[in-house]
Amino acid sequence: MDHFQLRNGELHAEDVPLSRIAEAVGTPVYVYSRATFERHARVFRKALSGLERPPHIAFAVKANPNLAVLSLLSREGLGADVVSGGEMARALAAGMPASDIVFSGVGKTHKELGDALDAGIGQFNIESGEEGRELAEIAAAKGKVAQCALRVNPDVDAGTHDKISTGKADNKFGVPIGHAPALFAELSQKPGLNLRGLAVHIGSQLSDLAPLEAAFAKLGAMMTQLRAEGHTITHMDLGGGLGVPYKAGEQLPSPADYGAMVARATKGWDVTLMFEPGRVIAGNAGVLLTRVIRVKRGLKHPFVIVDAAMNDLARPALYGAWHDFDAVKPSGEKMVANIVGPICETGDTFAMDREIDTLIAGDLAVFRTAGAYGATMASSYNSRGFVAEVMVDGSDFAVVADRIPPGDIADAERVPDFLKD
Ligand code: LLP
Repeated sequence: MDHFQLRNGELHAEDVPLSRIAEAVGTPVYVYSRATFERHARVFRKALSGLERPPHIAFAVKANPNLAVLSLLSREGLGADVVSGGEMARALAAGMPASDIVFSGVGKTHKELGDALDAGIGQFNIESGEEGRELAEIAAAKGKVAQCALRVNPDVDAGTHDKISTGKADNKFGVPIGHAPALFAELSQKPGLNLRGLAVHIGSQLSDLAPLEAAFAKLGAMMTQLRAEGHTITHMDLGGGLGVPYKAGEQLPSPADYGAMVARATKGWDVTLMFEPGRVIAGNAGVLLTRVIRVKRGLKHPFVIVDAAMNDLARPALYGAWHDFDAVKPSGEKMVANIVGPICETGDTFAMDREIDTLIAGDLAVFRTAGAYGATMASSYNSRGFVAEVMVDGSDFAVVADRIPPGDIADAERVPDFLKD
């Protein structure tokens, strides 16, 4: 459930009519609902309340790194899963304690590892022997001990889009599960590391819990084997990945279904479980508000040309992803149309042959479920700026990210002297 609903014929974010935000801030603009974020964080936590120990929930910052979003989630008691120094800095700036931050990713640089150690990060999810050895050296040189888990690749097909699948044997993530015992034995000898568990994340937008359960079973078996070999395992990180409905009425496993499956799969593990949800917290807590520039006659169907484009919301162009598209003031009439942005390539298409609310030039509309992997994946392609972001709180709203105009981006560029003669 989210707080983007029709009231008196107009789509509102909580108590704010979306046309008011468009007038004040312009379009395109991402609009987030504080109440929806909070609700999702609480629902997720409640879904995990049947576990043997209180879990550690680390929001996957990549899904929505806006500082207001992170500070809201920090107030809800969530930590952060970060994959770069930039994300770590944001989590810290938003008030998340360093000890609640998990650092994932295959390409942590020497500097990022050192900085995270200095910050006192809660856990490194080591993705290779090479990384583990490097981290051990850095930690030893600093006289520190890095808390770590070894991320394993369980070779499970998550059944999601290929580009967001991470747990198949030929994906770059984690170490092959068969390599885990030898690597665990080697790395756990290093004085700079406290290797305390395993981590797994098999992919995103999962619509079936069975692959997750299969991965957790493999992880549990590995944990048992490692314990039998004399290792102490206190933490197991089960990643993120739970999918969300992108189409009205679509049925996916709920957080409660997920929680029940996790409780079943991890029964008797005797560890602190860690989670890295992104989309399930953020996805339906945001929309991308856009204005129709014009409606162009087409051969078969009209093209509804909106002022948002693939640089603002990349998911349809990258993954063929579906986002529901609704008029802010629907008349009740419908049309079949192609929804496109102004960018000069055919990839800048949000939908083809879609039945939508009838729209004309100047009308406002939203792409729904844009709170995760929306603004964060924006680019300035076609020398467009970066869109603004707004957060609504009841009848109040605030700009939580300024629009960055194309000129400000160009200000970072210069023509060198050798081209000036
Ligand atoms: N943990 C790790 C290690 C991850 O790589 C990810 C997502 C997550 C947690 C959070 O997954 P979630 O709960 O959000 O599914 N840009 C793509 C999604 C890429 C996800 C990458 N990793 C999209 O727009 O669909």
